[in-house]
Amino acid sequence: MNETTAAVDVAADLTRRFEARTASVAVVGLGYVGLPLAVEFASAGFTTYGLDVDDGRVQALARGESYISDVLSARVQPLVACGKIRPSTDFGAIGLADSINICVPTPLRKTKDPDLSYIVSAVEQVAARLRRGQLVVLESTTYPGTTEEVLQPRLESTGLRAGRDFFLAFSPERVDPGNADWHTANIPKVVGGIDHLSTQLAAALYGQIVERVVPVSSSRVAEMVKLLENTFRAVNIGLVNELALMCHDLGVNVWEVIDAAATKPFGFMPFYPGPGLGGHCIPIDPFYLSWKARQNGFESRFIELAGHVNAHMPRFVVQRATDALNSAAKAIRGSRIHLFGMAYKADVSDARESPAIDVATMLRQRGAEISYSDPYVPHVPDHGLDIRAVAPDVALAGPLDLAIITTDHSSFDYGAIVARSPLVLDTRNALRGVDAPHVFRL
Ligand SMILES: NC(=O)c1ccc[n+]([C@@H]2O[C@H](COP(=O)([O-])OP(=O)(O)OC[C@H]3O[C@@H](n4cnc5c(N)ncnc54)[C@H](O)[C@@H]3O)[C@@H](O)[C@H]2O)c1
Repeated sequence: MNETTAAVDVAADLTRRFEARTASVAVVGLGYVGLPLAVEFASAGFTTYGLDVDDGRVQALARGESYISDVLSARVQPLVACGKIRPSTDFGAIGLADSINICVPTPLRKTKDPDLSYIVSAVEQVAARLRRGQLVVLESTTYPGTTEEVLQPRLESTGLRAGRDFFLAFSPERVDPGNADWHTANIPKVVGGIDHLSTQLAAALYGQIVERVVPVSSSRVAEMVKLLENTFRAVNIGLVNELALMCHDLGVNVWEVIDAAATKPFGFMPFYPGPGLGGHCIPIDPFYLSWKARQNGFESRFIELAGHVNAHMPRFVVQRATDALNSAAKAIRGSRIHLFGMAYKADVSDARESPAIDVATMLRQRGAEISYSDPYVPHVPDHGLDIRAVAPDVALAGPLDLAIITTDHSSFDYGAIVARSPLVLDTRNALRGVDAPHVFRL
């Protein structure tokens, strides 16, 4: 039997076991991406090893408790109890799994260069246990070429060869935390392998848990798809943020402009301005692309420009806070300013990269007394802020000079905020339709 026939036979066996759901899966990294994925695999019948370096998270899962707001403990608990999800910090299970799906963080370094250290560490764990007949899939967002240039050589250092002894693919995760309509199972899943067999295998695996799989010709294309999607968002948000600054100078309500433009039934898609970008994707992913482009001597001007405009927005919020206080003959120094919302977007608990943190930090540096409310974020340790949330009622009853709506959580009582705050700055258009002299907008 030649090498190609042997690989085809191994792949055919693996495909059969994916389709029969008798295969097992190891999900490495159990965060916003990995935990929902593990729950889908386990619910579909796959024995699922949930592996994470965070002992607290693993212990919580072992008790059947979810720490991700979109994943209900009621869904996790029975899957753990019947052994379909097996949470552990012991990476030995990688050797048992038929597919290993890597969902670890991909942050930026301070220099805005990609930090692949989590991927490298996870891949080293996999390489130490790699065996013939396994599929390895990277889901973490990263620059085009990572699967072939970073994963493949490390995995092949074992003496096993990708496409012959094991299979290797990239499949970007598109989960949108807090989105009630679109979740892991009904968001189409793009898959691209380092060769045709790897693509087919990854498609066969994900076909068991998602409604639609979209195979592409290579892992590089799959990596680029994700970066196009997130760069598209970052650039369009940059455009409307710039428009918001322009409209402010022109005395035009930018929200009214966008709402009216959005009535066009074709050729326009609304994006909305705000206090700045947040979360673990949109502020970060485009810089993975611009970094890789730079390695090839290409300057990605749209990404840099959008990054520049978006990064300026928290400063603009501080400027508008100054304007609001000024209207009441007050200075920022000594003012009591309460932020409604610390999460980076509505109805999620994720405060990573949140612009509200930047706004709070800058206001505090200028001498304001800062407090905040957020039902999902009880504590902010970042940037030396180290503050704890207070209940909205307590904030509105206490001495207060200015309320800033930094996140439009649906549970906030906006009527009470307008009625009980001497000044309000709305950075999210949460007070759509409210016209009062003490209400300021971005
Ligand atoms: N959060 C989102 O909305 C989203 C959406 C699409 C894609 N992504 C991408 O998916 C990837 C994961 O993001 P996330 O939001 O789930 O991150 P997260 O921080 O919520 O979760 C990552 C998990 O990986 C664990 N981890 C870190 N190093 C590890 C290692 N070496 N081995 C095992 N576990 C390890 C961490 O303890 C953590 O539990 C990133 O590349 C991100 O850009 C995120």
